Amino acid sequence: MDSLLGKSFYIKTYGCQMNVYDSEKVAAMLQNEGMVQTEEHQTADVIILNTCHIRDRARHKVYTELGFLKKNKEKRLKDGKCCVIAVGGCVAQAEGGEIFKNAPFVDVVFGTQTYHQLPAMLDQAVQYSYKKSWQRNVLTNRKKEQVINIDFTSENKMDYMPMFRSIDGSEFLAIQEGCNKFCTYCVVPYTRGMEVSRPADLVLKEARAMADAGIKSITLLGQNVNAYRGLAPGAAGPGEETWNFSRLLYAVAEIPGVERIFYTSSHPLNVDLDLMKAHAEIPALIPFVHLPIQSGSNDVLRKMNRKHTAEEYIDIIEKFREYTPHIAFASDFIVGFPGETEKNFEETLALVEKVRFAQAFSFKYSRRPGTAAYNMVDQIDEAVKVERLRILQDLLQQHQIHFNKQSIGQVVPVAFQKHGKFQNQVIGKSKYMQSVVVSNINPAEFLHSIRLIKIKGATLSSLEGVVEQSAQLQSA
Ligand code: 5AD
Ligand code: SF4
Repeated sequence: MDSLLGKSFYIKTYGCQMNVYDSEKVAAMLQNEGMVQTEEHQTADVIILNTCHIRDRARHKVYTELGFLKKNKEKRLKDGKCCVIAVGGCVAQAEGGEIFKNAPFVDVVFGTQTYHQLPAMLDQAVQYSYKKSWQRNVLTNRKKEQVINIDFTSENKMDYMPMFRSIDGSEFLAIQEGCNKFCTYCVVPYTRGMEVSRPADLVLKEARAMADAGIKSITLLGQNVNAYRGLAPGAAGPGEETWNFSRLLYAVAEIPGVERIFYTSSHPLNVDLDLMKAHAEIPALIPFVHLPIQSGSNDVLRKMNRKHTAEEYIDIIEKFREYTPHIAFASDFIVGFPGETEKNFEETLALVEKVRFAQAFSFKYSRRPGTAAYNMVDQIDEAVKVERLRILQDLLQQHQIHFNKQSIGQVVPVAFQKHGKFQNQVIGKSKYMQSVVVSNINPAEFLHSIRLIKIKGATLSSLEGVVEQSAQLQSA
């Protein structure tokens, strides 16, 4: 793909960790084509937005950004420079060619399952960009010379992806994608497709490549990781032996160099005894589970099509705690789902009081076109949603601060991944995925290692620590 050689690209990622992982793969692929990544869109020949569609606000952000990018494109074209704009990910999957109607200056639309074809699509778009007609029409409504592919192809894009870029890249490893559960509020089954698990040998190969590069802490990713059913190593194809999620966890934990494993996101319906035992038996598996419940009301859970009750969820939590007493939980909540009464909302607060989450993400319900809940009667007033979210977040935050403060005075292993805001500062993760900030050190000594840190302070969002002198050279 000669036209891409030496061209620069900028990639902006919205939404979840799966998108971060996808962007990393796209960037690696484009580098393999001889392109150069830049951190500034103003200087990029190709601009890629990897988008999120989960709530209306996320979609909105993309169109706001495209408004800015139009101005940038006008300027670059005036200066005689290349400026190809590609929109990919979940908004692209959901809206397809509509994006060209709303933003005619966009050149490429690619879906969540076609990004392995992006180099070929960009190659075509960059070649078009040299044509006089393209330069005349590019900012206005045009029909020709736009490239789109949002198919759900039979080939698995992950089989075409470069393995792993560098130790400074992300620590995410996708093991599974898509969802068959069709919660009535959620676009994921439409934007990501049905559940597909990567074969275990591919997952293990990527995990080994990461460990060999010095990554000690790996986050296994998927929309429903514990629904994992990948082909067992050596299995020839469909119908052959598969591994469940726990089996995969044991195998990843055996890889030399893998010291810490986290996974997200999991689903209550797919939690089994094997997973609870895995937490008790695998030292590298951190005692922290992200297990979304969405609501504490059985009425709402039924309308959401969650297929489990609040009591069943609490049973799961209690069982996990029997196997691993120090385990902690995170969850996701939606307030203001259609028909949610004050009593239903109070049931959510009661569940939160009972479980006491270490961390949580909470959202106002957002009506998504194409989902079953979109047309439900009894949509809740915005003001009520705002108030319920405030009350819920207040409570969740109290618990989170309380949980964080329990760490003060303890010496804990922290996995360091990135520089802090200030020089001589690093940020890492505790085994409960709390951010831990350590200052006045030499970052090079800390990055990509797991060190024992004494926790001195705690806020809602992070812990502050210092190197524990007596444990300075140990890793945990
Ligand atoms: N409105 C609000 N929140 C949503 N989520 C998914 N769909 C919606 C929606 N329509 C939330 C859920 C999910 C998280 C990833 O996003 O809590 O677990
Ligand atoms: Fe969406 Fe429900 Fe699937 Fe999670 S389980 S991705 S909320 S449909």
